[in-house]
Amino acid sequence: MEFHKCSILDVSPQQLAGGAVLVRVDFNVPFEHGVISDDARIRAALPTIQYLIEKQSKVILMSHLGQPKSPDLAFSLAPVAKRLGELLGQPVQFVSECVGEVATAAANALQPGHVMMLENVRFYPGETKNDPQFAQALASLGTLFVQDAFGTAHRAHASTAGVAAYLPSVSGFLVQKELEFLGNAIQSPQRPLVAIIGGSKVSSKIGVLKSMLGKVDTLVIGGGMAFTFFKSMGYEIGKSLCESDKLGEAAAFLDQAKQTQTRVILPLDQIVVREFNNDAPSALVDVRSIPADGIGVDAGPQTVAMVREAVLNAGTVLWNGPLGVFEMSNFAKGTFAVAQAMAEAKGVTIVGGGDSASAIAKAGLVDKMTHVSTGGGASLTFLEGHDLPGISILEDCYVTR
Ligand code: 3PG
Repeated sequence: MEFHKCSILDVSPQQLAGGAVLVRVDFNVPFEHGVISDDARIRAALPTIQYLIEKQSKVILMSHLGQPKSPDLAFSLAPVAKRLGELLGQPVQFVSECVGEVATAAANALQPGHVMMLENVRFYPGETKNDPQFAQALASLGTLFVQDAFGTAHRAHASTAGVAAYLPSVSGFLVQKELEFLGNAIQSPQRPLVAIIGGSKVSSKIGVLKSMLGKVDTLVIGGGMAFTFFKSMGYEIGKSLCESDKLGEAAAFLDQAKQTQTRVILPLDQIVVREFNNDAPSALVDVRSIPADGIGVDAGPQTVAMVREAVLNAGTVLWNGPLGVFEMSNFAKGTFAVAQAMAEAKGVTIVGGGDSASAIAKAGLVDKMTHVSTGGGASLTFLEGHDLPGISILEDCYVTR
């Protein structure tokens, strides 16, 4: 007998109609000057919320925003509830607490087809501690738990995992979609499969790099972490980023890569500066000739051309992490060039959340990608082959054939 993680499609319409459905969403959205600067995560949750409204459920949403340790109105979800209401075209009742009399009364008074949003779950210390009492109090608001917070599914918190001990638990459409695209990219990709892994730290990406060996055909390592690899190869890297305690692991990884069929590509050239600021004069150098006082800040044109060729010839491209200091406009060219190449690619293009997803959004190329994940840390954890606590707690549904 086969089984899969249950989704809301496995729940009968009778159960949904009039039922209080507690939905965990990831509305951890960026703000600039007090205004939501990218509502992609809110939009990504709409299919699940709209489905539940259509089925006449009472929809109770919970999310975190930022990493507050206690109540802090700078991290209130009130503006997010307002934005969600605009997108849904119906009001979303904002409740200023998660558990307690006010939340319980609001949940009891909620009408079928209506939506309410609880305040930031991280205002309660029980959330990140996955405190059973807090989880149970949250669960008491509903009769069914729907997990649609893919971006937070790597956290074993009360609202992402703990509640599942007290309620029947299924996934929403976003979680389903993320698991399908990211899962297929690794398990049954159109080949050649090219992975581009960038970012500043070997320590945060070494897990995913190792898990890619033997699975992908080409692995491009870019961004600041490339310098730790170069240093381990004996190159001068000047004052570029380096994790000295990861030199051994970087060297071991390159050795291990040689024993697999995976072609590993490191940058060929770099834009270097002497001072780390956007307006510093820059120079283009070969990676074997980085000056002793140079800081590598972006991929050079030869590197870009090589990555571009790999992307255009790929059956599937998986991208996670920028190729340079892309938050500084003068050093974002390499990262945007990857985004552009992916937009032109004929193969399947998957962007693994975080900074790469922001780069794609900034470049206005989201619609040109097969899938842009809403999860940075979550997609990395998944691609590393680890279980996501927010997914493993969901019920299994059996399929009889
Ligand atoms: C994210 O933005 O990656 C998720 O919302 C998880 O947030 P966290 O890293 O604060 O748990």
